[in-house]
Amino acid sequence: MFVQKPPMGWNSWNTFGPDINEEVVMRSADAMVENGLLAAGYEYLVIDDCWSKRVRGADGRLEADPEKFPHGMKHVADYVHSKGLKFGMYSCAGPLTCARYPGSFDHEFVDAATFAAWGVDYLKYDYCFHPSTRRGEDLYRRMGIALANCGRDIVFSGCSWGVEDTKVWMPGTGCHLWRSTGDIHDSWASIKMIAQGQLADQIYGRPNCFNDMDMLVVGMYGKGHAALTGCTDEEYRTHFSLWAFLSSPLMIGCDIRNMSEATRAILLNPEVIAINQDGAGRMAFRIYDGNTGWNDPAQSFVLGRLMENGDIAIGLFNLADGACCQHVSTENLGLAVGTGRTLVLHDVWSGEDIVMNNEIFQCDVPAHGCRVFRAKVVEC
Ligand code: GAL
Repeated sequence: MFVQKPPMGWNSWNTFGPDINEEVVMRSADAMVENGLLAAGYEYLVIDDCWSKRVRGADGRLEADPEKFPHGMKHVADYVHSKGLKFGMYSCAGPLTCARYPGSFDHEFVDAATFAAWGVDYLKYDYCFHPSTRRGEDLYRRMGIALANCGRDIVFSGCSWGVEDTKVWMPGTGCHLWRSTGDIHDSWASIKMIAQGQLADQIYGRPNCFNDMDMLVVGMYGKGHAALTGCTDEEYRTHFSLWAFLSSPLMIGCDIRNMSEATRAILLNPEVIAINQDGAGRMAFRIYDGNTGWNDPAQSFVLGRLMENGDIAIGLFNLADGACCQHVSTENLGLAVGTGRTLVLHDVWSGEDIVMNNEIFQCDVPAHGCRVFRAKVVEC
């Protein structure tokens, strides 16, 4: 299968960690529909680690933990599907998952068949306990081949945290997305570290093989399994805008059964989602503002993305601890004065429209903040 756009959905890990069960999954499925998440494009509901029995069944197959999932996994999958959602699960390239449940090493084909029989549409595949004598590339390809031959379309989500040059070999394994970082935590420091670390790796992402910067922490506010200090709404907006710009999958990690209005407004912003999901699938570019390119570890930077309809998405990001003044020059965007064209900037967070009368637009961006525009090319 070909995955044209970064997958969108919800994953259980950030909030629930090991405390996952049928009730939590079903009520989260309800919430995805009732809160408008499905309608906005969040279609995958993914159960992460800790869902199975500690040992395989006598027939060598994985079995759901009967205390957590008393009606079995097919029942859960059917319920998720009945809501119009797609169903995702988790396994690992090693013999054990990260939380020491059985992994799929040497069981790739039987597990792919089990997942297909349950109606799984998405598989997150971790890298803990992988045998050191085997190359990661080969372990992921084993499962990639098994999934491609299991008789069901299953999105394959590799999770080797960016180690051993993941970005170079993952596209050849059958993975549709690859985790490029260690685990995110609900803190500004974690968001900033991932964002800065991934700027230079933009060139490795593409449709059908997206750079997965890890699940979103938007709306966690310091609560749940991946919680640390929590963040402000301004920081969550910047986080969401960056992940959208950099074509990361948008997998929500907060407790969607209890979202604040501010959280909903961020996660459901249709114009930010549209930048992430744009049909042209072009990667972001960095607009010259005195920086020296992708490898410049600047704390403030300006990103652009040429959209399918000819618009240009422009994001001014300030990850520093103080406010700063940032600018966009039409010349540096590729829109030289001689073209007789300028831009109308539509602010996707405030709704404000600004006509660029000068070649340079500049504005203040608060600490940890951003301004994101969808710019229309118009005659001067
Ligand atoms: C980590 C992975 C997390 C989560 C966890 C489960 O390796 O990066 O996203 O899946 O394992 O144990």
